[in-house]
Amino acid sequence: MTRPIGVFDSGVGGLTVVRALRRAFPNADLVYLGDTARVPYGSKSPRTVERYALSCLRFLLERDVGLVLIACNTASATALDAVSAASPVPVIGAVVPGAESALAATRSGHIGVIGTLGTIRSCAYERAIEERREDASVQSLACPLLVPLAEEGWTSGDVAEAICHRYLGQILGGDHSVDTLVLGCTHYPLLSGPIARVASQIAGSEIAIVDSADAMAAAAKQHVLGEGSGTLRCYVTDATRLDELAPRFLGHPLSEFELIDL
Ligand code: DGL
Repeated sequence: MTRPIGVFDSGVGGLTVVRALRRAFPNADLVYLGDTARVPYGSKSPRTVERYALSCLRFLLERDVGLVLIACNTASATALDAVSAASPVPVIGAVVPGAESALAATRSGHIGVIGTLGTIRSCAYERAIEERREDASVQSLACPLLVPLAEEGWTSGDVAEAICHRYLGQILGGDHSVDTLVLGCTHYPLLSGPIARVASQIAGSEIAIVDSADAMAAAAKQHVLGEGSGTLRCYVTDATRLDELAPRFLGHPLSEFELIDL
């Protein structure tokens, strides 16, 4: 029997990765853990995020997963090494697949990265990009308002465009010549419409948008062996607003979930 793929995130945002995995592997069995009681990770210290990430890993290993995806960019940026060292099964974080997709997409070598405070402070995307292409340059920016905006469902219209404009104006346009922008956070794919529009407007030419959720699903290809029966088991540490939030990220209602303690 094929073992399931384990996916964890600080909350419901990682369901964007489940959605991307489902598109890539319709028959894979998935186990999702959303640490909704402790979300957000993006504003917490690396030490705390690492501790939380290790507890998520332990939970998934107890469910006998054969592969672990750290859907949360913040946890990937700050705790990938610790999680990989503690895991007997392969672990894929969001940063390397996102960085590689950005390098495949860029012509100028100037790449923008947006994410949470924790992700941007870690400089993990810069390292992953510059290690792979010496002459690449990275403009990165923390965009903390985009997470609540996506959760509220304000993913189009004046407010979303104005906030994207305010943020993206700081890393695009001018002398930066960024031609590729990495959405380095689980929540940002929901805002890809206004982000792409505003980014191209500011830059004066089309900006390639890299969705780290799709990049992770593509990276999982080499590890997914055999077929399951397309099940999704979902665990959360708090269920507040879950019925309302989960469909925004997953694309359809969550049929069932289990409330757990870590
Ligand atoms: N899942 C987080 C990330 O991708 C966003 C939400 C949070 O701050 O926990 O970085």
